[in-house]
Amino acid sequence: MAIEGSQAELAGQPILILKEGTGRTRGREAQHTNIMAAKIVAEAVKSSLGPKGMDKMLVDSFGDVTITNDGATILDEMDVQHPAAKMMVEVAKTQDKEVGDGTTTAVVLSGELLSKAEELIEKEVHPTVVIDGYRKAMEKSLEILDAMAIPVKPNERQMLRKIAMTSMASKLVAENRDYLADLAVDAVLQVAQEEAGKFKVDIDDIKVEKKSGESLMSTKLIQGIALDKEVVHSGMPKQIENAKIALLDSALELEKTEFDAKINIENPEQMKAFLEEEEHMLMNMVENIAKTGAKVVICQKGIDDVAQHQLARKDIMAIRRVKASDMEKLAKATGAKLITNIDDISASDLGQAKLVEERKLGDDKWTFIEGCKNPRAVTILVRGGIDRIVDEAERSIHDALMVVKDVVEEPKIVAGGGAPEAEAANELRKYAGKLSGREQLAVIGFAEALEAIPTALAENAGLDPIDTLVDLRSRHDKGEKWAGVDVFSGKIHDMGKLDVYEPLSVKNQIIKSASEAAVMILKIDDVIAASKLKEERGPPKGAEETGAGEEI
Ligand SMILES: Nc1ncnc2c1ncn2[C@@H]1O[C@H](COP(=O)(O)OP(=O)(O)O)[C@@H](O)[C@H]1O
Ligand SMILES: [Mg+2]
Repeated sequence: MAIEGSQAELAGQPILILKEGTGRTRGREAQHTNIMAAKIVAEAVKSSLGPKGMDKMLVDSFGDVTITNDGATILDEMDVQHPAAKMMVEVAKTQDKEVGDGTTTAVVLSGELLSKAEELIEKEVHPTVVIDGYRKAMEKSLEILDAMAIPVKPNERQMLRKIAMTSMASKLVAENRDYLADLAVDAVLQVAQEEAGKFKVDIDDIKVEKKSGESLMSTKLIQGIALDKEVVHSGMPKQIENAKIALLDSALELEKTEFDAKINIENPEQMKAFLEEEEHMLMNMVENIAKTGAKVVICQKGIDDVAQHQLARKDIMAIRRVKASDMEKLAKATGAKLITNIDDISASDLGQAKLVEERKLGDDKWTFIEGCKNPRAVTILVRGGIDRIVDEAERSIHDALMVVKDVVEEPKIVAGGGAPEAEAANELRKYAGKLSGREQLAVIGFAEALEAIPTALAENAGLDPIDTLVDLRSRHDKGEKWAGVDVFSGKIHDMGKLDVYEPLSVKNQIIKSASEAAVMILKIDDVIAASKLKEERGPPKGAEETGAGEEI
């Protein structure tokens, strides 16, 4: 009985099980296509790995250009369709979310694991054997990495700096990484919170803003918050020193009724009285704020014209329609409390900043709340010649912030340049000897896949991958744990001596997400795909982030 596609046949009668148009591939073929798709994705990002890796220029359907070397960004922009290829994109995204760096490496490793698995399957090793072997190899690799990692002090500046420098070595901004690494370390240490001897960093406490213009070296860490907003009224002061700041999360407007209300006004006096009453209420609000001694009002919602005018008369500076997330950061930076009810406002709710000032950035006016005392939220304002550089600089700074955070939270490091991968491969081969039968082959396959990382680094630097690998293996055999590919001299070097360090958590996450994705893809032997809908549906409602308080 031949079973084909979505239908089976019984006594010459086809039995339809699936909807017409459903595509189905199974067994070896399904496995093969999935592995191919994943490998193609891995191949696509491989050439961007490491300091000598190339960048990619991606053009979206609107013609917008992105130039990047960031694995997660490349895959995101590529908009891949194949389900297995999409899983590779997920690997990069998970990596990015969890630890912020190592996205390219994770995808390349996953592709290599699948490639080695396919070789084994072709040699009649059953996929489940490969999967079991891979799982064991993954656990073992994590142990090996943990044993080789060096513990460091979580707030040791010099080491954190080296970590940040390594993460930016492969980026467009590499030339300025000396300067940028300091900013990243300062920012993370500023917002790190100590709890029971352990540090926690909420990366959201570091606002990264970008604005093209000036140069990368004008990128600054602000001990406070920069807002892409101008002062609401031309009569207000544009600069206030030692400012007391009120943060309002309600509107400085009169509440509108939810339903349409009707007021019958029969003569001009009534009209006047009505308007006066409104004005009076607004003036009361302003009066309440002024009484606290506030010199700056930052409002999440709108500010009525009358209130603006009143504030201006009292020399109070005001900004409106600030995003909810920025209001939270402002509270953390200035020590102010968010005020919901203006009637209850008191002096103790106010925050402080050394300087609040409206400044021109290019054509736009921004407001800086800076010089906050021991702020728990800060801003990095990224500058650079052109938009694309600023965009890539922002991504690179994100990576740098994340790796510093990784080490502050889990203070263990390994050297880079493919050293940990090569060392893990070496140890895995020894471990494989202790396993029986075909599982051994899978573990050796896993080891070889790991070696693809130093090999890719070498290849991208124009070095001979085979020579490099042979050299690398022999150095590790001699016990040189930190021997890796020095892409600049083209030789195998102790990467620790070259100050190329990475967080252990990045390497761990690479191993975990790459092998989990590979195993998941290997386990699939049946792909049933519904036929495509004719009309593309729009994004689901509420999919976009709705910044509360944005202009509507
Ligand atoms: N100076 C260096 N010499 C050799 N390798 C380096 C150097 N700096 C960074 N690397 C390596 O480059 C790799 C990271 O490259 P990158 O393009 O940032 O990819 P990923 O997205 O995986 O982080 C890591 O293996 C890291 O150790
Ligand atoms: Mg990186």
